[in-house]
Amino acid sequence: MPIIAPSLLASNFLNLEAECKMLNDSSADWYHLDIMDGRFVPNISYGPMFVEVFRKATNKICDVHLMIEEPGNYAEAFKKAGADILSVHIEACPHLHRNIQQIKSLGMKAGVAVNPHTPVDALKDILADIDMVCLMSVNPGFGGQSFIPHTLLKIKQLREMIDERSLQVKIEIDGGVTLENAKSIIDAGADVLVAGSTVFKAADPIAMIAALKSL
Ligand code: DX5
Ligand code: ZN
Repeated sequence: MPIIAPSLLASNFLNLEAECKMLNDSSADWYHLDIMDGRFVPNISYGPMFVEVFRKATNKICDVHLMIEEPGNYAEAFKKAGADILSVHIEACPHLHRNIQQIKSLGMKAGVAVNPHTPVDALKDILADIDMVCLMSVNPGFGGQSFIPHTLLKIKQLREMIDERSLQVKIEIDGGVTLENAKSIIDAGADVLVAGSTVFKAADPIAMIAALKSL
């Protein structure tokens, strides 16, 4: 059964209390918060203050995806805000190992996110130190984009790399996940599905989460 992590980027910001209640009442396991700095990605979203508000209103695991430069400067702030899992981008971290050590020493699970053009081979020497890989299946920065089909091959390659070393690293797929393509993503070896538009633009988000979960 996949872990479902609705992405709040697609939620109704004028009615966040109702969105949190929906999440709490749903079979979602996690929720996914996208932090964008207008530098690493061409968009700006929200910061630790928003994470803190959500943490107080929800009872699920808080999965924070940092699409920012110099994430080490903010790891502590996101821990204080209530992040359970913190992912940083490999492309933004020349000292990735140090970033991962910092996240773990703060008591969070550590994830590494990779852009569509970054080969999964680049994770070889960090894989044993992390809890999750967030494979981007769209170019980061915006919700509502189409799934890049090449990601399926990357999932299979990464699954092999993890299994042949008997590691416990989760594979999270982020971007363009729909009810139509979710089964192929899971079959390729993914553990976690992030879903923004598919959940929050659905007529019945709770039923949509349940449908994804049952695949
Ligand atoms: C994209 C974000 C995603 C996004 C997914 O930069 O990292 O988490 O919210 O949204 P959908 O599911 O609409 O593609
Ligand atoms: Zn994300």
